[in-house]
Amino acid sequence: MGYRAFVVNKDDDDFTASVQTLEDSDLPEGTVTVAVEWSDLNYKDGLACTPNGRVVTKYPMTLGIDFAGTVVESSDTRYAAGDRVVATGYDLGTGHPGGYAERVRLPGAWLSPTPDGMTSEEAMTLGTAGITAAMSIDAIERNGIGPDAGPVIVSGATGGVGSTAVAMLAARGYTVHASTGKSSEHDFLRELGASEILDREELAAESRRPLERERWAAAVDPVGGTTTTSILRQTKYGGVVALSGLTGGVGVSTNVMPFILRGVSLVGIESVYWPGEDRPRLWARMADDFTGRNLLDLVEARVGLEDVPEVAARILAGGVRGRILVQPT
Ligand SMILES: NC(=O)c1ccc[n+]([C@@H]2O[C@H](COP(=O)([O-])OP(=O)(O)OC[C@H]3O[C@@H](n4cnc5c(N)ncnc54)[C@H](OP(=O)(O)O)[C@@H]3O)[C@@H](O)[C@H]2O)c1
Repeated sequence: MGYRAFVVNKDDDDFTASVQTLEDSDLPEGTVTVAVEWSDLNYKDGLACTPNGRVVTKYPMTLGIDFAGTVVESSDTRYAAGDRVVATGYDLGTGHPGGYAERVRLPGAWLSPTPDGMTSEEAMTLGTAGITAAMSIDAIERNGIGPDAGPVIVSGATGGVGSTAVAMLAARGYTVHASTGKSSEHDFLRELGASEILDREELAAESRRPLERERWAAAVDPVGGTTTTSILRQTKYGGVVALSGLTGGVGVSTNVMPFILRGVSLVGIESVYWPGEDRPRLWARMADDFTGRNLLDLVEARVGLEDVPEVAARILAGGVRGRILVQPT
């Protein structure tokens, strides 16, 4: 049976991206075959759509680092036909054909059950972005920072990681300060639960001062670069900065003062190979955080496979608000 997939290929300098019809015989090795209902768009998918994005490890490659759908066939005893499942990360869409396809075959260990009561569309509104935000907040909590410790700053707040983090922090009772470069989206951030909005450029500004006024008990920082440096200078005594991304740059230069005078911790967040055994817990905490709230308010657009190049270019330019969902069927 044929299935549609968004495939990139690179041969020397020749890079192509197109929607193709593949055959079941093209599916890779794996123990579980899934009919994909929804996928999503993350910054990494944007990079994978470019010739020099350095995230795809072999070509041709079906993109899509996340998907949610229903099991069609399984030789893994943990899953049976009809089960609702979700997968994020691992080698999906980079080294193993991913979720921008009507069908995916993969190792069962990469799957988690979709939480009861959560639709595939809702699961992909979270996806890698939501998992990364949940892991960041989890790290902040494990380091003893609760809502009473003071405000938490979220950088890149209208992006995928940022917007899901704002909503989840607010649901947990934190006071949320949000930094954004999109002056048109302040209302969106306030509706998600931010009480104060900062200008992205102001937060990223360089300073000669080793420390500044203590402002935030913690940070969810998917931006990196000078934004991280600036947050470190303004983090309160004993605070935690959970760093997950690089949209503002890969280099972080800092002095030692936040660490040795304020005991600030810089915690790295890596969602791609996070152990599968812990993922159902992360999905359950996200489901809890959004109980009674409309998760789909985070969705900016729903697109088909043909639209992937356009939205990929937009996310790389920092122009996406919230989440973009991709429907392969
Ligand atoms: N470590 C992990 O496991 C992991 C997992 C997921 C994502 N990430 C990383 O986290 C980052 C965000 O991913 P995402 O999928 O949420 O992307 P996204 O939706 O594009 O969000 C990124 C946001 O960063 C802000 N931004 C864009 N350009 C910027 C610049 N030059 N300087 C400062 N801020 C800028 C924008 O928000 P505003 O306009 O609101 O400022 C943008 O919406 C990426 O670097 C991604 O690779 C890492």
